[in-house]
Amino acid sequence: MLTSAPTMLRVQRTILVGKRAYHDLVTLPGSKPVISSGPPGYSAVSGHRVTVFGCTGFLGRYLVSKLGKMGTQVIAPYRDEDEARVLKPMGDLGQIVRMEFDVRDEQTIAEAIRHSDTVYNLIGRNYETKNFDLRAANALSAERIAKIAAEYGVPNFIQVSHLSASKSSPSKFYQAKAEAEERVKAVLPTATIIRPGPMYGYEDKLLNNIAGWPIWWKLNHAQTKIRPVHVLDVAQALANLMSRPVPSKTLNLPGPSTLSYEYLLDLVSSVTLQPPSRAPVLPRSVATLIARLGQNVWWPTLSPDEVTRRYIDDADLPGDWDVVGVEPSEIETHAITYLRRYRSAENYVRPVIFPPRPSAVVAEEY
Ligand SMILES: NC(=O)c1ccc[n+]([C@@H]2O[C@H](COP(=O)([O-])OP(=O)(O)OC[C@H]3O[C@@H](n4cnc5c(N)ncnc54)[C@H](OP(=O)(O)O)[C@@H]3O)[C@@H](O)[C@H]2O)c1
Repeated sequence: MLTSAPTMLRVQRTILVGKRAYHDLVTLPGSKPVISSGPPGYSAVSGHRVTVFGCTGFLGRYLVSKLGKMGTQVIAPYRDEDEARVLKPMGDLGQIVRMEFDVRDEQTIAEAIRHSDTVYNLIGRNYETKNFDLRAANALSAERIAKIAAEYGVPNFIQVSHLSASKSSPSKFYQAKAEAEERVKAVLPTATIIRPGPMYGYEDKLLNNIAGWPIWWKLNHAQTKIRPVHVLDVAQALANLMSRPVPSKTLNLPGPSTLSYEYLLDLVSSVTLQPPSRAPVLPRSVATLIARLGQNVWWPTLSPDEVTRRYIDDADLPGDWDVVGVEPSEIETHAITYLRRYRSAENYVRPVIFPPRPSAVVAEEY
């Protein structure tokens, strides 16, 4: 379930037309006061101007949409015009400002952040490309953006990391995310670090991937533990942080339950009404070899580091959802929305039946 305090307050204000209240004023250290006005929705004016690096990604698009709906002017730095085109109608005219940038070009980064009171950095990649290895894409880019944000005195900087980020992790991706946190904190100690668990949603690489490639989720006999979180809950949490900053804090946003890959395979099979996969459980060495060979094609395939991650349980850290004002929803609530397209025509409207949760898989208080 999503809650947005600013939206509720603005609805109340609309009912009591013409009343301006204390909550319409947000003061950020070292910045001019931000004053919101108007009814909620696309024509609202939140008074904030924010920059979203990584706006063209899975999480970024939902965040821009939520910010646009709150009447925030969003600077959207992009690499590929086609990827950024979808952002334009997410806000009122002139509210979504797309700017071409290069994460290695400090000038373009500075141009994107110099007028903003809040900067989100969602840039991240969990596989290497010809131009960016994992450190360059995740850690060095984050440091560069944070450094420029510090130079311009941005009062509210939010760095998106990963729940399992750790310098001692066997995964290079989790190491790079931990390095990003460290580097950002070193140049901008007031930065807020947000650590979501693996996210699911319409364009995710979780439920869609399990539906398409169950064999890769059977590694480790499907016993790896995962704490999946709804992408809209994370986007709402990030949007709330715009007007309720929590400087210098690190907040974990895991899903409300710890599940196993085995349960997710059962869930996808039950919801899509497809028979369970009969694919074998590949030994780790074979999976790593196949992943290595797959690196020779130009399109992204399962990387060796991803194979490593399939053997790592998500970090068992308590969630900080109360701080961001969101109650995370269970995966069963949304599974049919994202998985119905994998049903056959004759099963399309059949009722949804969920598999029982095994006793080893516990629903946790977050
Ligand atoms: N998805 C998850 O399950 C999950 C879980 C926990 C944490 N996270 C973190 O949350 C953040 C957002 O995740 P996501 O799923 O939205 O990722 P995504 O869909 O892969 O999007 C990543 C964004 O970063 C940009 N980007 C990547 N490398 C770049 C580079 N070298 N230069 C400039 N821009 C670059 C991409 O731009 P282009 O569109 O131009 O490629 C895109 O806008 C990431 O930091 C990710 O590590 C994700």
